[in-house]
Amino acid sequence: MPGALRPEALGVKTVLEPFRIKAIEPFRITTAEERVGILERAHHNLFLVRAEDVMIDLLTDSGTGAMSAQQWAAIMTGDESYAGSTSFFELERVVRDLTGYRHVFPVHQGRAAERILFGCAVSPGQAVPNNAHFDTTRANVEYLGAAAVDFVAPAAKDLRSETPWKGDLDVERLAAWLAAQPKGQVPLGLLTITNNRVGGQPVSMANLRAVSELYRRHGIPFFLDAARFAENAWWIHRLDPEWRDVPLPNIARAMFDLADGCMISAKKDGLVNIGGLLCLNDDALAAKVRNLLILTEGFPTYGGLAGRDLAALAQGLREVLDADYLHYREASAAYLAHHLDAIGVPVVRPAGLHAVYVDARAMLPHLAPAQFPGQALACALYVQGGVRSVEIGSLMFGHTDRATGKPVLADHDLVRLCLPRRVYTQSHVDWVIEAFAELVANRDRITGLEIVEEAPFLRAFTAKLRPAVRPVAAAAPRALTAR
Ligand code: F0G
Repeated sequence: MPGALRPEALGVKTVLEPFRIKAIEPFRITTAEERVGILERAHHNLFLVRAEDVMIDLLTDSGTGAMSAQQWAAIMTGDESYAGSTSFFELERVVRDLTGYRHVFPVHQGRAAERILFGCAVSPGQAVPNNAHFDTTRANVEYLGAAAVDFVAPAAKDLRSETPWKGDLDVERLAAWLAAQPKGQVPLGLLTITNNRVGGQPVSMANLRAVSELYRRHGIPFFLDAARFAENAWWIHRLDPEWRDVPLPNIARAMFDLADGCMISAKKDGLVNIGGLLCLNDDALAAKVRNLLILTEGFPTYGGLAGRDLAALAQGLREVLDADYLHYREASAAYLAHHLDAIGVPVVRPAGLHAVYVDARAMLPHLAPAQFPGQALACALYVQGGVRSVEIGSLMFGHTDRATGKPVLADHDLVRLCLPRRVYTQSHVDWVIEAFAELVANRDRITGLEIVEEAPFLRAFTAKLRPAVRPVAAAAPRALTAR
């Protein structure tokens, strides 16, 4: 089914982006010296760096994709009626075809779907299981006084193993846990495809089936967190012989058929810059959702979006299951992972589709985990190449113990290199690889960081840091000169 390359050549051969560029967005080319100053003014926190000071932005794949000419055309024909928008009915038709779910509610983004679904179904003291809750999903469960419980597959613990399906939910552990829960304790069960918290790893169809069967046996409604449903469907096509010759829309439909509904952040596989969906079958639940939606998002035929956003999303959903497009996604990530590996950068295996993760603790063994090796590497990469990435480690998931003042660390210190959809070409990826080559050659000169100021929660977004010993760039002026 896929286009030009045999799978085994992926990662080595030229990436053939299956599109031409029709509109461009120039970025300003900065020097390493400028970036040293920018980083200092941003207190070594890349969230505090302005986008205009970034050349290649790999912070997230969420809402950062490029729309197609057909999507821009749909923008012009979007129907802005408050009630009964033609664009809504078009979107509803496309989403019903894709998912099979009866009720389709547009929302402004993924977390709005979470808030509304949980607001209608979850009560204080209850517990919601998942393979791994994404941050906002967890926060929306906990905000209601319920517990978000993760069942990460044991295989995911080894970052370097090539074991497929590391995104799976640990069914055995879930079964034992469910058996021990009192009746009515679990209002709904989740499964996140692909598993963003676990390196963007996919969930197998076998695991989807087993989880579905388990939730059904316990009479628990089953919802997919399906932000990256198309990328998960692609992995099933690529890795599971049973599905190799099945068209991608049928694979996606088979996944949705196993659940009772889904939440979708359309900023990922919806191929739009803003938008989301909440879809379900249960009529009584849908009535509750509709009322809460009107209270906070808007009338159900626009759900917090403009008519043109609905139209662009309908077209994005028509495009995202294209085999050539998904093949290019895999080729881009495989190319980045392969070349980083080849120059000695320890990357999390197997490479995902939406991002490549670097194990910063393994790359910078001279830094203590308390010196934030992930953040130190992300900052060094910014100075080296003007590339923005994001630390997924102790800065994001650790905290300072209030009683002892000591740092509590995360299990890993990773740097996530996200690949926005249809935005960067292989040349941009080569630039990132070249920046890493310089960092590898001079890794000993990358200094650790310490926190100067932090918020009591979600500190990564606003924390101010400083070099623990001496400035990151001052240590290696030659290596850090990128032009
Ligand atoms: N679920 C998953 C699996 C996600 O990755 C995200 C967002 C959400 C839900 C929330 O959706 O942002 O539209 O409200 N992930 C982004 C990221 C922010 O960078 O991984 P949202």
